Amino acid sequence: MERSPFPHSGPLEADEVTGRDEEAAALVRLLGGRVPIALVAPRRYGKTSLLRRGAWLLDQVEPTTTVWLDLYGLSSVSDFAVRLDRALGSSTGRFREALDRVAGGLRISIGVVSAELRRSARSAPDATATTHALLESLVRVAEHHRTLLVIDEVADAIGVGNVLELMRSHLQPVYRELGLAFAGSKPTMMARLFGDTDQPFYSQARRIELQPLPIEAVVDIVHRGFRSTDRDAGPVASAIASFGAGHPQRSMELADAAWWLTEPGAAATADTWDAALAGVRSRVAPGMRDFFGMLTSTQQAVLRAVVRTGAPFAASEGRFHDLSRSSITIARDALVDAGHLLFGPGASTLTDPLLADWVARELP
Ligand SMILES: Nc1ncnc2c1ncn2[C@@H]1O[C@H](COP(=O)(O)OP(=O)(O)O)[C@@H](O)[C@H]1O
Ligand SMILES: [Mg+2]
Repeated sequence: MERSPFPHSGPLEADEVTGRDEEAAALVRLLGGRVPIALVAPRRYGKTSLLRRGAWLLDQVEPTTTVWLDLYGLSSVSDFAVRLDRALGSSTGRFREALDRVAGGLRISIGVVSAELRRSARSAPDATATTHALLESLVRVAEHHRTLLVIDEVADAIGVGNVLELMRSHLQPVYRELGLAFAGSKPTMMARLFGDTDQPFYSQARRIELQPLPIEAVVDIVHRGFRSTDRDAGPVASAIASFGAGHPQRSMELADAAWWLTEPGAAATADTWDAALAGVRSRVAPGMRDFFGMLTSTQQAVLRAVVRTGAPFAASEGRFHDLSRSSITIARDALVDAGHLLFGPGASTLTDPLLADWVARELP
């Protein structure tokens, strides 16, 4: 069975990431120089993929162990301890040996924290003490092993117990020795955490805002994927680049659909593109309907206004939906905070080109 050259669920492997060469080189330079970075972009823009590539390139320049800590949907300090334990527990080799030795001295066993924290309340260890011990272990091992700590979806830790402060207290003294990469999808939260001078530790990180993929990069990725599997993308590559507007995951999803409709040895045509788009539209429609239904009615109206006019404030749209300017502002800010709306100085756009397409087709 052939495999599609356009994976589109979950992060790419390091060697699958293309079209982000400059960003990857910048990551290697900064992380190699021990400058903490904070990568900011909407969901499914390729943050985790790019960090994987950066970590992989860095490892080739100077052998480095990467610890991946994913805070997506973090709920509590216990949850943090469990995720950190898992991240440390997946390490191997010399790093792992050193880690087990240090952790043993602090009376914890890497890899079993989850079971311990879920024991009945009386005998369970204290989550904060466990977190201290895990962070302490990591930091001590990093003194002797080149280490990169990736903290993905860090904005999800905002407001969760004292997680941010726990991380800061352990990482601040060593941030010059340890590679430190943060990533997050919630733009406003990320701007606050990393731009805020009241957060001296986090604000040291160099902020990198990941942009949509350039049109040429998408065209190139699509052509290359087809060619490498004995197909010709024909007009489909530029159709995807223009419809997908540089959204990495959506562009790959569309390319994947067109690829499955193209026989080996054949060339895709305009009909292939029409059929691929129709297929993707019908596949995503139920999810779009569910997503849209969960928004407030003002947020729905703002998305509709942006799709129709490129701006949330068009006077005619405000009148049409019977909304005040202040309620529009609140709804717009919530959509921007959640990463659904890209609010630029020129025109605003929906982050997801397929959502924009769905709104334009389904709603007047
Ligand atoms: N450089 C890239 N080139 C092509 N597609 C990409 C690239 N980066 C990401 N993608 C697409 O986006 C999807 C999501 O990537 P991921 O790294 O998980 O995003 P994020 O971490 O920002 O949510 C991938 O499955 C892939 O289809
Ligand atoms: Mg990610």
